[in-house]
Amino acid sequence: MAIPEEIINEIKYRNDIETVMAPYINLKRRGKNLVGLCPFHNEKTPSFTVYPENGSFYCFGCGVGGDVFSFVRQIENLDYIDAVKLLAERSGITLPQDGYDDSMQKLKNTIYEINRETARFYHSYLMSPEGKWALDYLTGRGLSISTIKHFGLGAAPDGWDNLIKHLKSLGYTIPDMIQANVVGKSQRGTYYDRFRKRVMFPIINIRGKIIGFSGRAMPGEDKMGGKYVNTSDTPVYKKSENLFGMNFAKNHCDERVILVEGNMDVISLHQAGFENAVAALGTSFTDEQAKLLSRYTKEIVLIMDSDVAGQKAARRAGEILGNTGIDVRVVLLPDGKDPDEYIKKNGAARFKALLEGAVSEIEYKLLTAVEGIDVSVDDGKLQYLAKAANIIAESNDVMTRDLYIGRLSEKYGVSRTALQDKVNELRRRNHKQREKREFDEIVRPKFDRADVNPEKRLYPAATAAEETVIAILWQHPDFYDTATERLLPENMITVVNRRIYKALCECISSGRNPDLSYFGEMLSSNEMGYLSALANSEKGDKNALIVLKDSIKVILDEGLKKKSGDTKNMSADEWAQNLQKIIESKQKGK
Ligand code: UTP
Ligand code: MN
Repeated sequence: MAIPEEIINEIKYRNDIETVMAPYINLKRRGKNLVGLCPFHNEKTPSFTVYPENGSFYCFGCGVGGDVFSFVRQIENLDYIDAVKLLAERSGITLPQDGYDDSMQKLKNTIYEINRETARFYHSYLMSPEGKWALDYLTGRGLSISTIKHFGLGAAPDGWDNLIKHLKSLGYTIPDMIQANVVGKSQRGTYYDRFRKRVMFPIINIRGKIIGFSGRAMPGEDKMGGKYVNTSDTPVYKKSENLFGMNFAKNHCDERVILVEGNMDVISLHQAGFENAVAALGTSFTDEQAKLLSRYTKEIVLIMDSDVAGQKAARRAGEILGNTGIDVRVVLLPDGKDPDEYIKKNGAARFKALLEGAVSEIEYKLLTAVEGIDVSVDDGKLQYLAKAANIIAESNDVMTRDLYIGRLSEKYGVSRTALQDKVNELRRRNHKQREKREFDEIVRPKFDRADVNPEKRLYPAATAAEETVIAILWQHPDFYDTATERLLPENMITVVNRRIYKALCECISSGRNPDLSYFGEMLSSNEMGYLSALANSEKGDKNALIVLKDSIKVILDEGLKKKSGDTKNMSADEWAQNLQKIIESKQKGK
């Protein structure tokens, strides 16, 4: 751990978890704990629980959890170190200048620097006489110089090592350039600039740091590498978690966000005054991106090409966003244009009108459901109405349902009550399914989920026992001797719990009381949630010592079983030893 423990403790002491959370969540007292609606996922009944006693939190709905550092880290989307720094600043503690950054943090900082220098390099090239070809291209597409500067656009010169040379002259190493993914290594072992003769769009995260690039080839020159070349995932960039333009849009999207397909669309829209536009970066829209948006906005307007691919993308994005509870509306652009072209041709006012007329998700679905069905014949009509009833049944608003039932019954000449009955029947059926799903999602705590501890699927009983051991030892550090006499970290079956148990033992044996902050740097956010759940569980409440011993036995037995699975490969000696161990453990158990 790089930051001294006393400082961590001081920061934690001065940043009471309730106060830190107050601007983000409305918490209500429940017994000695506090509960509220989770800011990390959408929910209607509060499952976000804060334990002021030990300064931790856990959401039973989505499994996030940890201490005040984990909270800030996740809500502000920061690294561990940055979260510590932020809370230090907030409470007037000055951290000594250097020496805190672990190697990963150092690498990340270097990548940020390389990205910044790279963006500068591309930008000044664009603005130089040599970059005229690129500037002509961008202005030819209608971008003003101030827009170009606002987005920090640039151009990569033609040639294999212009950037390499420049970054070298600034003192950066090839391996770091490769980590930043601005430089590649060929099969022959030579290094090359990844972006050549392209206009460059820096990708900037919500904290204003340049995390990657998207480079567009000149028209007619996109055979090599494709029309766009993008940064692959790096230690500072995950494309599934970022949106192009979000660094600006986040300040303009309280009411709504406009989601488009391309970088150029975003830039055009911003220039035309729609500063709430963002684009998924060459991926199909992901859950993480939806989550990011749901923290900033109430409504999303999807703008899609009216081509088949655009509609498919719209449908998928609609599904993902549906899960977050944000309102979704859809605009289909006429004539197969994208927003960039549409605005250029028709102007901002027409685009605005189009936005105002965005149809609701349900209307959009009803419109597109008719595709491929011939509604001029009775069979087709019935087929379409069955589909439509399903769509209407998804709406939880009785007025909305009534409206569309009315419209459809009129349009297709069926009785209103018939359609109403059909919708009601579907709703009853869906309701049952939904209840079950909600039960699975909310009531089943996250630490049962195998995503934090994938080995749980292989060893369900042993994993549960490991979790119990960790929880009990956490709440009763005085059982340390009892636990460690019987169970060494290497006896833990699953890797995650082995790591946690090992660190927990080290923490206790050095005379400290278990505290989530001790694990802050070592565990991922997900693992932190897992541990917070265990730390606050009720496993240690009753007969803790007996339960502890029993659980240890379950783990050891599983270990032996695992081993004897390997007996085929054992020498005679090993085999005898193994047998002896099994006999002993049976006797102990009696
Ligand atoms: P489009 O082909 O629609 O490009 O791809 P565009 O944004 O309209 O660009 P212009 O107007 O031709 O310059 C939409 C988005 O898909 C990703 C890019 O993020 C692009 O903005 N894409 C496209 C890639 O990542 N790679 C490609 O080769 C093509
Ligand atoms: Mn375009």
